[in-house]
Parts: sequence; C-alpha cells; structure tokens
Amino acid sequence: MADPFRRFRLARKVSESACITSFHLVPEDGGPLWDMRPGQYLTLRIPAPSGPVLRTYSLSALPEGRDHHRISVKREPQGLGSRWLHDQLAEGEVIEIAPPRGGFVLDEASTRPVLLLAGGVGLTPLLAMLHRLATGARRAFFVQAAENGEVHALRDEVAALAAGSGGRIIARTVYRAPTEADRAARRFDAEGVVDRTLLQSLLPLDDYEVYLCGPTPFMVAMWKLLTGLGIAPARIAYEFFGKGGSLAALAAGPGPASAPVHGNRIPARAPKSLAKLEFLTDPDALGLPDALPGTVAEAAAKQAEPTESGAEVVFARSGLTLPWNGASRTILELAEAAGLEPEFSCREGICNTCRCAIREGAVEYVTDPLDPPGPGQALICCSRPAGRVVLDL
Ligand code: FES
Repeated sequence: MADPFRRFRLARKVSESACITSFHLVPEDGGPLWDMRPGQYLTLRIPAPSGPVLRTYSLSALPEGRDHHRISVKREPQGLGSRWLHDQLAEGEVIEIAPPRGGFVLDEASTRPVLLLAGGVGLTPLLAMLHRLATGARRAFFVQAAENGEVHALRDEVAALAAGSGGRIIARTVYRAPTEADRAARRFDAEGVVDRTLLQSLLPLDDYEVYLCGPTPFMVAMWKLLTGLGIAPARIAYEFFGKGGSLAALAAGPGPASAPVHGNRIPARAPKSLAKLEFLTDPDALGLPDALPGTVAEAAAKQAEPTESGAEVVFARSGLTLPWNGASRTILELAEAAGLEPEFSCREGICNTCRCAIREGAVEYVTDPLDPPGPGQALICCSRPAGRVVLDL
C-alpha cells in the first residue's frame, strides 16, 4: 500500500485566542485539497527525539473556497504535538499529513434541526459542520461554552455564519468566568454553564440531532442534560478530546454492572476509557454512535449466536472461540463484548496499539490502517475475520 502521507507547507499561522492557533496547510505538490466530511480530522507526522509520532487534529473549516486545509489547535502544556506546532513549526516549513479520517461527521442526508454543543476547543469539528450547515436549509443552533473571551477562539467566524443565515442559524456563547472586557464588549449571552434553563429557552420543541465535543466533564454533563430533556441517545453523536469509550457509560458511573450496551458493542468500562487518554490529545477521537441501551447479557447472547458463514475468531491465549455473526463491527469490539480487554488507543487504525499476531487465518480491514502491520499481524480495532482466524490474544 502506498504511503498515504503527503507533504504540506504551513502557509499561515493565525492566533485565534490566547491558547488556540489555526494552521493553514497548502499541498506542496500544488495538487488539489482532499475531500473531507465535516467533523473529520487530519493525522500529522510530528518529529520527536525518539522518532516521528502521529497526532490527529480536527479540521475547523471546509476546503471549499480555500487553497488550504485548516486545523485549529489548542496548545497543551504537556502536548508533544501541539507544543511542536505552536512553538517550533514556522510558516514556510513542511509537514507530512495523512488524509481526513474519522466517523464523527455531520449526517448530511438528514433534514432534522441540528444542535452543535462545543466546550472550549471542542468547537473545531463543530465549526466545520456549521460551515456546511450554513450552505443548506436546516435550522441549526451553535452553543459555545468557554472560560471567557480570552480563550474563546473563532467567535467572529461563528457569528458571521449565523448573521448570514437569515435567522436559520442561532449562535449562543456561555462564559463560565467572563472578564471585565467581556462584560464591557457584551461578548457573551449567558454566564455560568450550559444548563437546562438555557437549552429550554433556546430550543423550540423539535426533533434534534446533537453533535457534542469538548472536555470529558463537559461532555458527561451535556449528555445527562440532553438525555434528561428527552433527547434519545441515538440522536447524540460525540467526540472526545482524547480516547473515550461510551459517554453513556461515563455518565452512568464506573463498573461493568452499570455499563449499558450501545448498539452492537459493550463499551469499555469507564475507568479504562478514561485511562486511555494518552494517544489523542485534541478533539480528534471517535464519537461512536449510541443506540438504545440494552443489557450486557443481551449483547453477550447475541455475540454467541452462530453464523452461517462459519467465520470465527479464536482468542488463543484466552482460550475463547467466538462466532463472527455481524453483531460486532470489529474484532476488538467482539473481544470487549466477551469480556476481554485488549490494548487499544485510537480505535481507528492509526496508532497500532491494538496490533497482535495472527497464528492462523487472516483478517480483512473494515477501515484501512494508516500504517499496515507486517505479515502475520493484525490491527484488531479496524478488522474482521476473513473466515476462521486464530489470534495470539
Ligand atoms: S487502536 Fe489504534 S490502530 Fe488499533
């Protein structure tokens, strides 16, 4: 497989707030920009003392009408990638980037009204969605929660999209601790946090789709708020700042007994989800669509149903053989549903954390890995069995 990475020149660095900077990236080969879906991210190869590392950053704008891709990145004091981008990468320099990926994307086939709920730099994928919504006919509400105006990025861009929509897009800003300058300039609509009163006063009764992105505590609070207002979990898509499992599981509290089943997978237990925040350091992880909750027992029973194809996965070291009946999307999900806890991080075929040896058989990829493993190895987060496969797990 050809190297998916392509060289881009940093054309401009634009400071968007005290901690967030946008990076305008132009293809060095003069070729076209990539197609993307609103909400997706780019994977950057970042130089590091021990060799390049991969970091992913949400695209905050669409390519239409531009000569560059734009990512907007918060400088994290401990973030290797964000510090390098902010402090070292200079305009004119070149960086290697892989094409847009990610399943946290705007459902463009839907006609339902949309609520975009951003906490801090979580606005970046949602802003790309807002750009797309600005060219359509759907009603949209964009709610930004931030500490204050100093750290609130891209406010004017959101306001311009709302102002140009003829009232179809409504934007609201909530500052937890506004400064005197914020008050003087009336830069925010509400003080405190996004709460039930604010959402009820903002949103007419309707059948909303919600897209949620921000720090985990914000996301958990919003999840509880939204589901408490009667919005079905299946209508709430979300993306974590770092690697997360299921928001409903986090909201329900730790422990397998309280972890509901989502669609065809049993989410990782909350503490494990939170423990996996080391790979993705920006709002760039998967937002797994949630279906209506069931029970762990129901999911386990479904996993055990036989399959006509005869495909199965043997987890050799665990002494477990499971039929592949389509109840899981990937081998990793199948393993988790059976109570195994394989290593993972990105769940998107980027980081290779989930790589394991194949003793017999083969897998096929649901999502192409960014850096395919060698012969006799598999990335279980993005693959399914091709017939019977025996894994060293
Ligand atoms: S968990 Fe990252 S490649 Fe599988």
